[in-house]
Amino acid sequence: MDIEKKYPMFHETSVHLENKANFFKISLPKLFDEKYNFELAERICQIGFKASENNREKYFKNVNGLIELSLDFLKLQVLLEKEGRYLYTTFEEVKKMYESSEDNGPNYLWGLYFSEVFWKIHCNLTNFFIDEFIEKADKCGTVLEVPIGTGYYLSEFLLKKNNWNGLGIDLAKNAVNFAEKICHFNNIEKQRYSIVEKDFTTYTKQNKFERIICGEFLEHVEDPVKIMKQLSNLLTTDGKIFLTAAIWSGGVDHIYLYENPKQVRQHISEAGLMIEKELVQPVFDKDKEYPEKGKIPINYAAILSKSN
Ligand SMILES: C[S@@+](CC[C@H](N)C(=O)[O-])C[C@H]1O[C@@H](n2cnc3c(N)ncnc32)[C@H](O)[C@@H]1O
Repeated sequence: MDIEKKYPMFHETSVHLENKANFFKISLPKLFDEKYNFELAERICQIGFKASENNREKYFKNVNGLIELSLDFLKLQVLLEKEGRYLYTTFEEVKKMYESSEDNGPNYLWGLYFSEVFWKIHCNLTNFFIDEFIEKADKCGTVLEVPIGTGYYLSEFLLKKNNWNGLGIDLAKNAVNFAEKICHFNNIEKQRYSIVEKDFTTYTKQNKFERIICGEFLEHVEDPVKIMKQLSNLLTTDGKIFLTAAIWSGGVDHIYLYENPKQVRQHISEAGLMIEKELVQPVFDKDKEYPEKGKIPINYAAILSKSN
């Protein structure tokens, strides 16, 4: 297959990453196996370009966000291994950090956006999300994504499910703006979604959702069980939640430290939720055989429903 011709933006972006960072030179060739979704990767890059105002310089600066995020993760992971704790432990500390950053919110959104197609574990996660969550959803309904972050998951859901509407919530203004752009450039009709700036811990509306997407939130809050109970209250009786959590993983705004998958499962059960399917991915190849070992970085994902 002539990747350069068929997926030009994706090709240029991967060459840029390989030239700029040695670890992408090693990891990218391993990524492109038979399951790799080139169509999705090309679209993600094209939309990223449009959201960078069709400006090449801006676009590649935004792509560099992925290199920065990857390096930050490695640095913070070393610190976590040494100290046995995250940099911060309270919401107040992290909230202040968001407010003082130059564009009012987390500065890793571009990195996170491109990681969806250039990090192996995020590619696997997308496949899990599509096969187990989107494809199995009914013909119509309403989906909530909290926190919305880049808007990647909500937009992929709404693109595949034309008769669904969506709501996204995020504390940070720049996440709300980012997600709006991603939905807009994916040509999702404006009347099908709304994205609101709100601290979810103070969200009091009671209307129910048939599907809830909650990616990488639990490690950002002081009381994950309270959040999961809140999600359960917002879920219809036979609704489903797509949940992910970072376990023992360096992140500048992580405050709740999960040490192993068992602790996440315990919280899910305390919140009155049930696991239907799981994907437990160690971040490093050396840990692949021992996902339950503890104190290793894990990307945890599950499809949940309400316990009977
Ligand atoms: C790592 S991102 C995850 C984004 C997205 N769900 C994903 O998986 O790509 C974490 C997001 O949580 C948001 N956030 C943190 N605390 C929040 C809160 N209390 N209420 C709503 N959003 C919050 C941050 O602004 C940030 O956009």
